[in-house]
Amino acid sequence: MVPAAKSFEGDVRGGLDAAERASRDEIMALQRQRLAWSLKHAYENVPHYRQQFDAAGVHPDDFKDLSDLAKFPFTVKKDLRDNYPFGLFAVPREKLARIHGSSGTTGKPIVVGYTAGDIDMWANVMARSIRAAGARPGMMVHVAYGYGLFTGGLGAHYGVERLGCTVIPMSGGMTERQVQLIHDFKPEVIMVTPSYMLAIQDGFAKAGLDPRESSLKYGIFGAEPWTNSMRVEIEKAFAMDATDIYGLSEVIGPGVAQECVETKDGLHIWEDHFYPEIIDPVTGEVLPEGSKGELVFTSLTKEAFPVIRYRTRDLTRLMPGTARPGMRRMEKVTGRSDDMMILRGVNVFPTQIEEALLATEWCAGHFQIELTRRGRMDEMTIHAEAREEHWDGEGLTAHAERLIHRIKATVGISTRVNIQAPGSIERSAGKAKRVVDNRPKE
Ligand code: DLL
Repeated sequence: MVPAAKSFEGDVRGGLDAAERASRDEIMALQRQRLAWSLKHAYENVPHYRQQFDAAGVHPDDFKDLSDLAKFPFTVKKDLRDNYPFGLFAVPREKLARIHGSSGTTGKPIVVGYTAGDIDMWANVMARSIRAAGARPGMMVHVAYGYGLFTGGLGAHYGVERLGCTVIPMSGGMTERQVQLIHDFKPEVIMVTPSYMLAIQDGFAKAGLDPRESSLKYGIFGAEPWTNSMRVEIEKAFAMDATDIYGLSEVIGPGVAQECVETKDGLHIWEDHFYPEIIDPVTGEVLPEGSKGELVFTSLTKEAFPVIRYRTRDLTRLMPGTARPGMRRMEKVTGRSDDMMILRGVNVFPTQIEEALLATEWCAGHFQIELTRRGRMDEMTIHAEAREEHWDGEGLTAHAERLIHRIKATVGISTRVNIQAPGSIERSAGKAKRVVDNRPKE
């Protein structure tokens, strides 16, 4: 059983719960207690963790203080693949209430499991997140994250219900229908990937509707990297407040961290359930607070699928709490180490291209990056879509030239820019595919 800390759960419907009001010292005390439990739980119930801890010469009893966590070995995605499908579960299969997974791009999917208690905790952190984004009990919430094995739809769904809101379980896709239901039902809140929100925005235009006149007041966007420029774009288009939600299947799904609408200054990590560290991705060394590096999570209360020092590959930094002073914030994740492209020695993330595109007048944020190779040189072509009102039918050559110079000056790389007609770049109903790699396979 997870160590009891009843006073920390509270009733999320009432307002801030006890953990959101707790001091830093109270949160750290809770973390010490819960980490001790979680390490022991993983060691005693998952052969993989027992082997890993034994091989590293550490035992859960060696954990006395938060800094002792650094002695324990990391967990990586390959460990999940090697133990496919149920090898990392810490409870008998019959105790699982639900399974989720993520398809990934190649090979076997990642499988994660939840007990009824895990689902309950997840609903609580999601309700807390949705509330932090501005929603209140009684509001209507349109969920356009995909339902199914992906954690987005059902994770959001249970949180909406827990908060005491009305859920519209729309899932992703069928953009015209999305627009129609938003128009007819008048939800105050929408939860969707930021890239699909742009497609919904197009849908409004197609239907002859002004998104600023819609009922939507709060948007909760995540599951993929997006920039503050994209936030401004969406907030202006819909006259809404847009906040960022972060999470990953391995740790629970959405609801690991959420930005507060009153500050919009990075995402508060729900540290009463998920313990963050930032490490140097090369050496694995824990970095001092404020340094940028790879985000690592240890679950504090999960029963079915505990994760110990799971390497997310997401790059960010930790900052002290603001709107929730007891819990630290993470900076918006602008890239994964997997997404990083290297062009002639310069590291580039798709979000840097998004930033440059949204700084123009003519681009609304639909873009794709194509990588090709000429001789030994990798080349990048940015395919970017023009806004309807700016499209000249030809390719906005002067604008393309200007953007090439701007990217050279700000990001430091040479690119080709191909400006295309509105609607010509493929829309995804979930996570956008930003990079198409057409380089010959080695
Ligand atoms: O994307 C969970 C989720 C659903 C989060 C809905 C938010 C909203 P996975 O499919 O396992 O889970 O993918 C997790 O997506 O490691 C990040 O690289 C990326 N990611 C998720 N949220 C954000 C975000 C869900 N707010 C992976 N900003 C993570 C940037 C994000 N990247």
